Amino acid sequence: MGATRRTLLTSAGAATAGALAGAPSSPAAPGSAAPAADPVALGPATDIPVGGGKVYSTAMVVVTQPAAGDFKAFTSTCTHWGCQVTAVENDQIICRCHGSRFSATDGSVILGPATLPLGPKAVTVKDGQLTLG
Ligand code: FES
Repeated sequence: MGATRRTLLTSAGAATAGALAGAPSSPAAPGSAAPAADPVALGPATDIPVGGGKVYSTAMVVVTQPAAGDFKAFTSTCTHWGCQVTAVENDQIICRCHGSRFSATDGSVILGPATLPLGPKAVTVKDGQLTLG
C-alpha cells in the first residue's frame, strides 16, 4: 500500500510540474508594448473658431475651442459605426452618417444613435501653433 501511495504522490507531482511548465511565464498586458504616438503639428490655433472647431482628417482628430483659449481635441472617428465626423457647429461635433452629435466641450453624446463619447486627445498650443500629442 505504501508503494501505491508513493506512486500516486509522485504522479501527482509530475502532473503539477508539467502543467506549470506549459503555463506562459509572464503574459504581457495587451497593448502595453505599443509606442506612444509622435506629436503631430496641426497648424495655427487661429484656424479654430471660438464655439466651433475643425476636423483634421489625416490626423483623425477634431479640435474645438469651446471658450476663448480653451482648446479640446477628440478622435474624429464616430463611436456609432466608425464614420469620420465632418463638422463642428454651435458647440457640437457632428457625424452626418446617421446624425449623431457630440459635445465640443467634452465629447459626450448629445444626440444618438451613438451611445459612447468621442475619446479625448491631447492638444497643446505653443506660439500660436496647435500640436496633437
Ligand atoms: Fe456616426 Fe453613425 S457612424 S452616426
